[in-house]
Amino acid sequence: MTQALADMRRDYTRDGLSEAQAPSEPFALFHQWFGDAVKTEQPPVEANAMTLATVDQDGRPHCRILLLKGLDAQGFTFFTNYQSAKGEQLAARPFAAMTFFWPTLERQVRIEGRVVKVTPEESDAYYQVRPLGSRLGAWASPQSKVIRDREELQDLLKATEQRFCDTQPGCPEHWGGYRLLPERIEFWQGRASRLHDRLNYRLQDTEWTRERLAP
Ligand SMILES: Cc1cc2nc3c(=O)[nH]c(=O)nc-3n(C[C@H](O)[C@H](O)[C@H](O)COP(=O)(O)O)c2cc1C
Repeated sequence: MTQALADMRRDYTRDGLSEAQAPSEPFALFHQWFGDAVKTEQPPVEANAMTLATVDQDGRPHCRILLLKGLDAQGFTFFTNYQSAKGEQLAARPFAAMTFFWPTLERQVRIEGRVVKVTPEESDAYYQVRPLGSRLGAWASPQSKVIRDREELQDLLKATEQRFCDTQPGCPEHWGGYRLLPERIEFWQGRASRLHDRLNYRLQDTEWTRERLAP
């Protein structure tokens, strides 16, 4: 088993990332790479899936997959339950890191920065475009809490359906978006023989600086 794992490797030869191709600020490059990923990555890979890392009060890291649901000049938005484990971690330590991995393109993007809640209006606007099942689920599921069994979840959903049988559910207060305000965005393009390209953007005051990192 250990040998089999040691022998698992791919050479990355698809593309390169030169300073000449890279803009002076990272958002344009992220848009370009994200567009490539949407076009190229095959289902079941979701191009907007990423790993979100947070830390708890004791400095211990936690990570999980989430879906990116918004991107603007301020930052990268995702939606979740504010009372979940990640919600509690972000309340105590409002910093996070996201990693995107697009295997077909042999690319990784790492984003780090402070995290803020989006406005209730923004959360509500996204909540309202979700399918009804997801909207009810946001009310029904006490995300990250221990539940007895699957039946308890089904009972919670039934009670929620009854509660909203005559009205449309509105966005719960315990559910909404966070925006990661990036201070560092690193683009990694796999290259042959592990001599990969890494362009790292750092925000200094209001200006992005760019540097190449050794692979
Ligand atoms: C492909 C995929 C997409 C997911 N998207 C989300 C999401 O957008 N929001 C969310 O709260 N959880 C999402 N999850 C579930 C999270 O990984 C996680 O189980 C949940 O948010 C609870 O995490 P926590 O206990 O650390 O708070 C997704 C999981 C997968 C595998």
